[in-house]
Amino acid sequence: MSRDIWRMGYHLMPPTGWGNDPNGLCQFRGTYHVFHQYSPDWPQKGERAWGHFSSPDLIHWQHHGVVIHQDTPDDANGAYSGSALVVPGAASDGGDLLRLYYTGNVKRPGDYDYINAGREANEILVTSEDGYALSPKKVLLRSADYPDYCSCHVRDPKVWRQDGSYHMLLGARDRDSQALVLVYDSDDGDSWSLRRAIRPQKPFGFMWECPDRIELDGHEYLACCPQGMPAKNPDGSGTSWSGTFALDGKLIDTESVDTSTYVELDRGFDFYAPQTFVDDSGRTLLIGWVGMPDEDFCGQPDGMSWIHCYTVPRVLTRAEDGRILQNPIPELDQLHGAHLYVDAQGSIAFDQPRVDLQLADVQGAGSLALDGALHVTWGDGQLTLSFTDPEVGIERHSRSCDCDLHDLRVLVDNSMVELYANGGREAFSTRWFPRTERLDVALDSHCQANAWTMQDCMSNTYEA
Ligand code: FRU
Repeated sequence: MSRDIWRMGYHLMPPTGWGNDPNGLCQFRGTYHVFHQYSPDWPQKGERAWGHFSSPDLIHWQHHGVVIHQDTPDDANGAYSGSALVVPGAASDGGDLLRLYYTGNVKRPGDYDYINAGREANEILVTSEDGYALSPKKVLLRSADYPDYCSCHVRDPKVWRQDGSYHMLLGARDRDSQALVLVYDSDDGDSWSLRRAIRPQKPFGFMWECPDRIELDGHEYLACCPQGMPAKNPDGSGTSWSGTFALDGKLIDTESVDTSTYVELDRGFDFYAPQTFVDDSGRTLLIGWVGMPDEDFCGQPDGMSWIHCYTVPRVLTRAEDGRILQNPIPELDQLHGAHLYVDAQGSIAFDQPRVDLQLADVQGAGSLALDGALHVTWGDGQLTLSFTDPEVGIERHSRSCDCDLHDLRVLVDNSMVELYANGGREAFSTRWFPRTERLDVALDSHCQANAWTMQDCMSNTYEA
């Protein structure tokens, strides 16, 4: 594992190689588990597997390497994304059983378009009684089982239990390149029957990846990642999105979603494929991939031995108007080191690049600059994140959203920045690549500003 200055101090990252979507999030027998899409051989070609982190407290993590390989004919070209379901009392010792559902990707050799021909998607189950040792793989659904109107792109099972039944969402692309999700039902979590397809009321991308069901205060949301959306950048990039549709009733009874209710979960440059789970204390927690598919830029300096990382776990709650609020887990406060009052119209130099900066009671327009390279500006009902130094932003330019700023939390962790605005109504995630191991913050605002240094809690996470 490289010791470059951009390694994360309190965000998860692949120790080496490529990481994408978080998978199989759960709290099982007391321990938190974060599985993830993992290609340890990157930048060489190699397998797309599941890696695994575990934690007693969501702060101190252990990485266990690759735990689900692409090693059967049913997942020969990738153990793709999926989710976890904890079944109380179903293990042989009378304790809880962990069920992990994922998509086995298979590409047949030949001259195929791999959209309507040449690809298979198998929904596969593995179980575990302790969270670490995994059962043999069992294929539950194959391509022939999906409706005829589907293309070969069907994947990313999200499984949950509701009203005594198991339900599964699968993201899909139909043969006319319209996006949808399939909803399946099951009595036992093994044999599945199609319940319905849910489509957008207006065309909304060609494929929905990583669907999720979120329930907050009895209100349900369908989360998904549409591909093929209007570009967010002038250069035509940013066409894959991540967000939620607010539903009127239960997801399993929903026939179509109103696209005007879609809200992006994160406005930054690097955020995709978030997944949620409910922990033992009943909190709904979200972790997102800090990376983007379908971009034509690499987004980081050449020569690094690892790529991409994950957001901190975020607690989701529901505002009175139905908006989903996202805030970093309170456990992160345990990592606070020195506390500093910050002059709201001055600058401050930190001798380390890990900081939690909090602005409260923000009045009027203002700005914040990190190392004079990454700028957060607000005023006229807009909040904007932009880069002025292309060496630091690496092809990231500017992203904005409507927001009358009242409060802002900025988490800086080496090469990662997360912004949380207005009690978590807006979030921005971005990578950045500062050239020093110090951090200069310049603030021009009317507000109460506080900052804490953040400890590095990842020193024992990865094998040496
Ligand atoms: C989303 C995604 C998923 C797929 C996985 C493969 O980023 O494309 O749809 O399961 O990544 O790594």
